[in-house]
Amino acid sequence: MIEQEMDFENRIVSPEYSATDDDTELSLRPKTLDDYIGQDKVKDNLSIYIKAALKRKESLDHVLLYGPPGLGKTTLSSIIAREMGVNLRVTSGPAIEKQGDLVAILTSLNEGDVLFIDEIHRLSRNVEEILYPAMEDFSLDIILGKGPSARSIRLDVPHFTLVGATTRSGQLTAPLRDRFGVLLRLELYTPEQLGQIVKRSAGILGIPIDDEGALEIASRSRGTPRIANRLLKRVRDIAQIEFNGEINVEVAQSALARFEIDELGLDDFDRKMLTSIINHYGGGPVGLDTLAAAVGEEAITIEDVYEPYLMQIGFLTRTPRGRCVTQSAYEHLGIKNNNNTQQSLL
Ligand code: ADE
Repeated sequence: MIEQEMDFENRIVSPEYSATDDDTELSLRPKTLDDYIGQDKVKDNLSIYIKAALKRKESLDHVLLYGPPGLGKTTLSSIIAREMGVNLRVTSGPAIEKQGDLVAILTSLNEGDVLFIDEIHRLSRNVEEILYPAMEDFSLDIILGKGPSARSIRLDVPHFTLVGATTRSGQLTAPLRDRFGVLLRLELYTPEQLGQIVKRSAGILGIPIDDEGALEIASRSRGTPRIANRLLKRVRDIAQIEFNGEINVEVAQSALARFEIDELGLDDFDRKMLTSIINHYGGGPVGLDTLAAAVGEEAITIEDVYEPYLMQIGFLTRTPRGRCVTQSAYEHLGIKNNNNTQQSLL
């Protein structure tokens, strides 16, 4: 049953990059680790590995970045390249269709370069097989010809650093995962960290904003800088047309109410999904596929995009028998929970 048709591509709180994110998104990205706010553990570790590799005059070990979308994996890869003083080459798992595509990329790299592969869990097995010896020995085993006359030649490639990014490290094959020396997990940002990011972005864009206004936008940004920066720009529009151009807490609240983003950053879709679990499945447990069909969204999108934030704020739990809505979600939605057995099962 489809609850409602929604325009997911243009969802203002989508953490995915969208065509409406113009070039300013690029100008807002921090260029050095010092400029990068939050993810302290990741930053501390990276900073040590980078300094050590520079001291040894070696390329950095291969790095796997994983975590929900919109948290800065691409940004971090460009920071890594810049701090190592090398070039960055950006591609993605689905874009590398054939072994030859990857061979072409690898043979065109310079010594020490960073190769960023986004959505690395979507590489085909064929392509992955080329990657193993390249990551391990910086060599390629290429088979020339077919049948009995086929022969294999070995080709050296420059010492490069592979930075792989994925929202689902569990979907990576074990041989690929094992070849990364550095595994870094990105976490959703706290409202305070996002508040600092909003203030920094407002400074770059020349938008007047006070601390409370920044925190208001930050607390409705689902732990995701990409959403925070997008909301900042939309709130600026309202501030300029309906107010005096400055963003304070009242302006932010008024604008965000107009976008139907509530105090916790939930939009219509989040509310629909939670209400659907409550109304049709007694608050859960409900299996992911059943839920996906009920709300008309792909299971993988629900899992990677919507659920991490709902779980972080304690509105949803994943149990072995399915998804459950928590008492706090009932309270937030203003729905009475008549189903106490469900809560005691959690
Ligand atoms: N813009 C987007 N992500 C950021 C971050 N982590 N730090 C600073 N500015 C950002």
